Amino acid sequence: MSSDHIPILDLKAQYQALQTEIQAAVNRVLESGQFILGPDVTAFETEIADYLGVKFAIAVNSGTDALVISLRALGLGPGDEVITTPFSFFATAESISIVGAKPVFVDVCAETFNLNPALIPAAITPQTKAIMPVHLFGQPARMGELLELAQAHNLKVIEDTAQAMGAQYFSTCSDCQCQTTTQSKLTGKLVGSIGDFGAFSFFPTKNLGAYGDGGLITTNDPELAELAKMLRVHGSRKRYVNELIGYNSRMDSLQAAILRVKLPYLKTWNDQRRAIATKYNAQLQDVPGIITPKVTPGHVFHQYTVRILANKRDAVVEYLRGLGISTMIYYPIPQDRLPVYDGKYARLPVSEQLAAEVISLPLWPELADAQISQITQALAEAIRINA
Ligand SMILES: Cc1ncc(COP(=O)(O)O)c(C=O)c1O
Repeated sequence: MSSDHIPILDLKAQYQALQTEIQAAVNRVLESGQFILGPDVTAFETEIADYLGVKFAIAVNSGTDALVISLRALGLGPGDEVITTPFSFFATAESISIVGAKPVFVDVCAETFNLNPALIPAAITPQTKAIMPVHLFGQPARMGELLELAQAHNLKVIEDTAQAMGAQYFSTCSDCQCQTTTQSKLTGKLVGSIGDFGAFSFFPTKNLGAYGDGGLITTNDPELAELAKMLRVHGSRKRYVNELIGYNSRMDSLQAAILRVKLPYLKTWNDQRRAIATKYNAQLQDVPGIITPKVTPGHVFHQYTVRILANKRDAVVEYLRGLGISTMIYYPIPQDRLPVYDGKYARLPVSEQLAAEVISLPLWPELADAQISQITQALAEAIRINA
């Protein structure tokens, strides 16, 4: 590997900058003897609810659990259908399948990689109970239109916000310039505060990452919050008085203490991510045969993902690998085409096309200008030699 090797993500730079604060927080928890839930988790819940502008935040074990518990709290299960995107990490559809409901996949917009609201009405049946949009790669889904559809058809909305902590919704979409009254009411809201539930992940690679698994459920509804809290701890409000079949999905105190150190830096990190995306776009604007993402104000660029056209994606990935530049393909197979669903869904052309075209380039807040230039020059060269 060359000395200029660039990984897809480097978490060490962030740790080095925060080392003193994080070690103090970890030591404080170790000395307290309180390792599960406890004061750090409660304080983190208060701080993050305040940051997100929601009434209730319930810290859990993972983003997957946050989705599953949200679906359970809404009473969804066998016989129910939940509309979602094919173009996401499998935890999205898996959560729906785990509770026994049926994921119904609706294709995405090629520009934003997110659920296309215009295609949803045709997928609604009497069994449809909810919509689960994903704010993929840190880009808010079209929440205004999704909420209008949900209200019109009496559906619940669970935002899969795993990749978009800190992203803000703006009423004018980058791809369609749509604007309605409902949407403008939502302008500036942080994602995860808009639907009936928001479900976040603190997997270490996320924009706000723990040092282990972690997740968060957000809601403004007191009854749903109470149910989610019960489901987090074996379906009990009071210890040893179990009222529901629940889960063991408590957040560790250590993770909460670490997340409390990191939360005040999140806005800066997200601004840095957006600035890096802007630099990538500027340097790639004249490269033919690729489509770069739009940099919109609320986008927090969990990933910077470009489309490589004309079947050149795999050759480009190989070329970059040869130069020591790591890339990732999020996602090589849309959820509906995964072996687990055994070919039972009708094909969705946009997400299949995206799965064949996308590559995500290295991105973390401390990525240096010299590294960005090295990556964009290598990508331009890869396209040129494969022309
Ligand atoms: C879109 C999406 N949903 C859900 C999850 C699940 O989160 P976790 O890994 O914390 O269970 C992830 C994470 O990796 C994700 O990217």
